[in-house]
Amino acid sequence: MRIGIYPGSFDPLTNGHLDIAERAKSLCDRLIIAIAMNSAKHPLFSVQERLEFLHECCVCGSSSIEITSFEGLLVDYCREKGVTFIIRGLRAIVDFEYEFAIALLNKKLAPEIETIFLMSQSENSFISSNMVKEVASYGGDVTSLVPQFIHKKLREKYSSR
Ligand code: PNS
Repeated sequence: MRIGIYPGSFDPLTNGHLDIAERAKSLCDRLIIAIAMNSAKHPLFSVQERLEFLHECCVCGSSSIEITSFEGLLVDYCREKGVTFIIRGLRAIVDFEYEFAIALLNKKLAPEIETIFLMSQSENSFISSNMVKEVASYGGDVTSLVPQFIHKKLREKYSSR
């Protein structure tokens, strides 16, 4: 059984994340999409809200996908869940150094777990959650960058501030 995990902050989920999740599904028998809880970060959306986004946009009744969150080291969580590979998206060369370092570190900590990188599609290669938040915070149009559901949630979040 090939169990893959697609970890991230997903604050919020973007069309780029969705594309990677969709393609990751076909690489494994079971895909875990997991929000890493990091007390040092100050996310715009709570873990509960981000779980709701993932459920709303990624599951579509599929029993081979698990949406969840975890605290602590990713490799520890992978071992607990029997994960064989970690999936990460690579948008551009700027992502490479950061992703390379994480992949090497994870390999050092857990040599049995591989990291697989999926290249973003060119139309998504510039999308980041941070940019989406910045544009949305100034009332800019992010409809082509995130699912409709997230667009609505961003509007609600920034109009209540
Ligand atoms: O979407 P992000 O913020 O780029 O995701 C980064 C993530 C969650 C994959 C990374 O921070 C992570 O694995 N966090 C869990 C803690 C951990 O294992 N740290 C060691 C590797 S940096």
